[in-house]
Amino acid sequence: MKKNQQLFNFARQAMLNAYAPYSNFRVGAAVLAENGKIYTGCNTENVSYPCGTCAEAGAIAAMVADGARKITKILIVSDGKALVTPCGACLQRIKEFSDKNTEIILSDQDENEQIYLISDLLPYAFEEF
Ligand code: THU
Repeated sequence: MKKNQQLFNFARQAMLNAYAPYSNFRVGAAVLAENGKIYTGCNTENVSYPCGTCAEAGAIAAMVADGARKITKILIVSDGKALVTPCGACLQRIKEFSDKNTEIILSDQDENEQIYLISDLLPYAFEEF
């Protein structure tokens, strides 16, 4: 039994809906927000490659659109073999809606999870201007 089974199930379902005909690499993300709700996203590619969006970006946008502003946990799963670490831009997106306790859970298709804090993955984040 995975520790974050429900979040994994949501992320995996989103992953199965990913639109990734160019990379053939499907990613799903599920955010557990501070309000207790779960929001999901999947990568959504485009024939004009730079227009494609990451799974994390979709899940965070869904959370924000629903009025929530704090990520308690975000779980990311892909259909690849290795754990997927969010790209640099998505780390910055996660950072915007995180606090020091926000859990970033990287999961493979089996029972394996690794849990990080944003300070682990983006220690020198851009924060002020
Ligand atoms: N991708 C994500 O959705 N999230 C990540 O954390 C890494 C990469 C997507 C973008 C693109 O559709 C595909 O994976 C290959 O880079």
